[in-house]
Amino acid sequence: MRKPFVAGNWKMHGSKAMVISLASDLQAGLGSIKGVDVAVCPPAAYIDLVKTALGEGFVQLGAQNIANEPGQGAFTGEVSVDMVKDLGCRYVIVGHSERRTLFGETDLDVARKTALVLDAGLTPILCVGETLAQREAEETEAVVAAQIRAVLNQVGVVAFENVVVAYEPVWAIGTGKTASPEQAQAVHAFIRGLVAEQDEAIAARLIIQYGGSVKPDNAAVLFSQPDIDGGLIGGASLNAVDFLAICNAAGDACSE
Ligand code: PGA
Repeated sequence: MRKPFVAGNWKMHGSKAMVISLASDLQAGLGSIKGVDVAVCPPAAYIDLVKTALGEGFVQLGAQNIANEPGQGAFTGEVSVDMVKDLGCRYVIVGHSERRTLFGETDLDVARKTALVLDAGLTPILCVGETLAQREAEETEAVVAAQIRAVLNQVGVVAFENVVVAYEPVWAIGTGKTASPEQAQAVHAFIRGLVAEQDEAIAARLIIQYGGSVKPDNAAVLFSQPDIDGGLIGGASLNAVDFLAICNAAGDACSE
């Protein structure tokens, strides 16, 4: 039985006042939520502040990105995996479609960053997903397979014991268009099958989140699909009431 995992990706949103208020509201509301792991991924500049505002609770911290270089060095403007670990992060989002499309990250870059995160002892949230043009050209499986296999080739299947995958169809991110539960389930099952080709037990334990316009009103039906193990939440994670409702839906789906 996989425990669902819901992570909030705050992207480049917030201010000191806003993140303190959001973290405090989450901390206050999460007490009653059971059966789900929860993390938030604030902008790097606010990770420390959010950690203080969250205090000792069960909400974990994640970073949205790391530098493609290990250790320290002359990489102006970059933030290393060791730095986000030092700040208390347990997770790092890698390969988000915004990084792939806006910042030119290739499958190989994403594989390398995944390895850096794993080497640091943190858990990558590996994002994969197709664009609308790719879906319409019936390339969804080929695109997702290439994205997953690039990482499998780099880190090996055993490392997937410590990887979370997030399937995020690019056309559903921030658009209000959600994949139907059946569309999402089909790709989740396909991803699990790719990993199962190499190790069935690891595939059976792999957490695969769905991301792309998850809201309180569609979360339950998505999370009730057999291969959907929670979500990576963008817009709705900036609203404590909505994010808490989505966490609740994941916990309920697990206990059904
Ligand atoms: P969204 O973003 O929930 O706003 O669609 C999801 C994501 O980009 O992780």
